Formats: sequence, C-alpha cells, structure tokens
Amino acid sequence: TDVRVDVVSIFPEYLAALDISLVGKARASGLLDLRVHDLRTWTTDRHRTVDDTPAGGGAGMVMRPDVWGAALDDVMEGEPAHLIVPTPSGETFTQRTAEALAEQERLVVACGRYEGIDARVVEAHRAAGGTVSELSIGDYVLNGGEVAALVMVEAVARLLPGVVGNPESLVEESHGAAGLLEYPVYTKPPTWRGLDVPEVLLSGHHARIARWRRDRSLGRTAQRRPDLIAALDVSSLDRADLDV
Ligand code: ADE
Repeated sequence: TDVRVDVVSIFPEYLAALDISLVGKARASGLLDLRVHDLRTWTTDRHRTVDDTPAGGGAGMVMRPDVWGAALDDVMEGEPAHLIVPTPSGETFTQRTAEALAEQERLVVACGRYEGIDARVVEAHRAAGGTVSELSIGDYVLNGGEVAALVMVEAVARLLPGVVGNPESLVEESHGAAGLLEYPVYTKPPTWRGLDVPEVLLSGHHARIARWRRDRSLGRTAQRRPDLIAALDVSSLDRADLDV
C-alpha cells in the first residue's frame, strides 16, 4: 500500500461513504489503506464517556485527553504519524494542503465533536515528535470533524498515483497551479433546448479553443473569486490575458 489513513471518530458510520466510488476503488485495489476506528473503543467506564465539562467553565463539553491519548497511541503503533485535526479554528484546507498531505505515507485524522478536543492531545503529540495540522474546510461550523474528514480524505486520495484513471484530469482543474477556476464544459448534442455549444469548441482549432477556455477561466474567476485574481502571480499571465 502507498498510503495508510486512520480516522478516529465517535460516529464511524459517517465514514461509510469512503467505501464508494473512487476512494472505495482505491481501497479495494490497495492504493489506500483506510481504517476507521470508534473512539469509544478506548473508553474505560461503563458509560463509555468521551467528554467532560470545560475547564474554566462555559457551555458545551470538551473531549477527554485520556481517551484520545490512548486511541492515538494504539492507532499510531509507536510511530508518531502526521495528525490531522479537523476544526473550524484551524488553518484553511486548500488544494495545496491536499497536495502536501498526499506526500505523507501515514495520516491519522482525529474527529472531534462538541466544543473540541482537550488541547493537550495536540501538545502531547508534538512533544512526542509528531507533526500536526489543525485544519478547517471553510468558514462555517459543522457538528463535528467527520464531514470535514470525508472532504479531506477524498481530496487527498484522488491525488494518489493510480487513483484517478487519467492523470491528465488532475492537471487542468479549478484550484490547480494556475490559480484560476475551471472554464465551462459541454458535451453532445451540439444543440439542446435551443442552446448551442459555443462554436469555437466545434471548430477543431486547438489554439483558439485554448484561448477561449483561458478567457472563460479568467472571466469566471474575476466574477466569482476576485480574491484568486488578486493572488495571481503576474508572471503567469500571457499577453492575451490582458486583452479585454
Ligand atoms: N468541525 C466543525 N466545523 C468544521 C470546519 N468548518 N472545518 C473542519 N472541521 C470542523
């Protein structure tokens, strides 16, 4: 196997979706060794308690460090893996993050619920020589890290060599190296409900098609994501990009 990913959660059923489609195939073919664990396996009391009241007071509950510590120690088997903690207070997970994570041989995702995991869990992992990414999938609040874990595992898995059948489909993509959104796409029939596929795409003129696509990418990005335009490396633009 190229990559092993362990996901620990109190709702392992959430991760069932990773049996489907491309990620499911990557698992079946052995490209991805994905293991999902129930955090309650590591509880020691009759009620299988994973949380407690926050130190310092306040609303909600915090996940206990002893249960998480035992879980991570077992799952990591003495080898401190790269730990991912999905949290709305993390750094933003982007395609660049996915690319960096896809280089790792071993990832462990700790899905928190409630108000989060006792901060000493991350601290102890770092002290033991492990690395940690606390990551947010966007500026909104989910009920827990599970859905974010689904997002991250899918985004990383499709970058693993052999997972996406045609690696060229990874090249020209929204959020790719160009920093632009993808252009609109069409297929047959050439006319549908009175709407035509843009003529240039049927012209067979490869240079004109490439120019048209690049203009649509730039226009779309300017309209929908001005932040991406502002972040563009000016040296990546060609002369025609500046024509209106
Ligand atoms: N857990 C709750 N909300 C989240 C978010 N936006 N990203 C990652 N993990 C989360």
